[in-house]
Amino acid sequence: MPYLEWAKLRSTARFNLATSGVENYPLRDLPARIEDLEITGPGLYGYPELRERLVRKTGAPDESLVLSIGTSMANFIALSALIERGQDVLVEQPTYQPMLHIAQWLGAKVRRFTRDPANEWKIDIDRLRGLVRPETKLIVLSNLHNPSSALIPENEMREIGAIGPRVFVDEVYLEAMFDSPERSSFFLGDNFTITNSLTKAYGLSGLRCGWILTQPDLVPRMHALVDLTYGVSAHSAERLSVIALDHLAPIAQHARELLERNRQLVNAFLAAHARQLECAPSKFGTCVAPRMRDGRVEDFCRRLRDEFETSVVPGHFFEAPQHFRIGLGGASDILEQGLERIATLLGQ
Ligand SMILES: Cc1ncc(COP(=O)(O)O)c(C=O)c1O
Repeated sequence: MPYLEWAKLRSTARFNLATSGVENYPLRDLPARIEDLEITGPGLYGYPELRERLVRKTGAPDESLVLSIGTSMANFIALSALIERGQDVLVEQPTYQPMLHIAQWLGAKVRRFTRDPANEWKIDIDRLRGLVRPETKLIVLSNLHNPSSALIPENEMREIGAIGPRVFVDEVYLEAMFDSPERSSFFLGDNFTITNSLTKAYGLSGLRCGWILTQPDLVPRMHALVDLTYGVSAHSAERLSVIALDHLAPIAQHARELLERNRQLVNAFLAAHARQLECAPSKFGTCVAPRMRDGRVEDFCRRLRDEFETSVVPGHFFEAPQHFRIGLGGASDILEQGLERIATLLGQ
């Protein structure tokens, strides 16, 4: 079963630790009045006021910005513009499943490079360089990494960029680096394309406010793909996104405090269960992906949900079958009770 089908239909539980973003930010906490919203707008390639806010937020020039529907559609549009059938493409492993499936759907000749869990999911850049061939067109990765929240620091990202092919980076989790913000890799060289949205770090998934930063010569191709697919975005959501971006500081503060609280809970849990679970303490991001030293993770996750009303993501969805993913972005009491239940099952 594909990951997203599982996430939509089979992951819910009373203690749901299977999510990867910050809990939903409620509409009532946004200073939005019904008069501020409108059903239909000017269309175009994104509501101009929203484009203007995103230019300001990202620091990128308007001619490099493509608006889209969440990072999901941004990934589809960007990868569709970057990949042609039969082209050689290198995709990180483990990865967020849709990124791999989009490349396969587009007919790329997909090869993989590993991120090593035993080495904090780092990319071995020399090995990656060795995998690149003259015909390799694209390197695909996420930063922060899903499922582990591992960071590729700027110096390493520069090295990856210097290998030569274009680099596609899904940066939807990079937004969650509240205490030590990282520069988007878009700014590290003219072969980087990045995607992002307001979903994960701010709990604003429902706005579907996603974007791509890329080289201006690729933008017409991406806009043609917007025209071929959904045409325009829901205008009310664009208007709400403008309001959210104008009030991002308190939204970010809420997310930051929640993640810090939850990180302490998760790190205490990981330290107490080091005999059963191998995982470096969480330093940032919204997830951890511990490795179970013994036992079958799939069976463990099934029992956890069936008998303990708690869900985590089995690692096989990320090609890491001995791992599972715990999300840090939910309500702290739910996380705490979910972790207690995981501890109970680990103890059996
Ligand atoms: C790496 C990655 N990219 C994109 C998405 C989807 O994000 P959005 O809600 O912005 O479409 C997810 C959601 O899990 C993700 O993990």
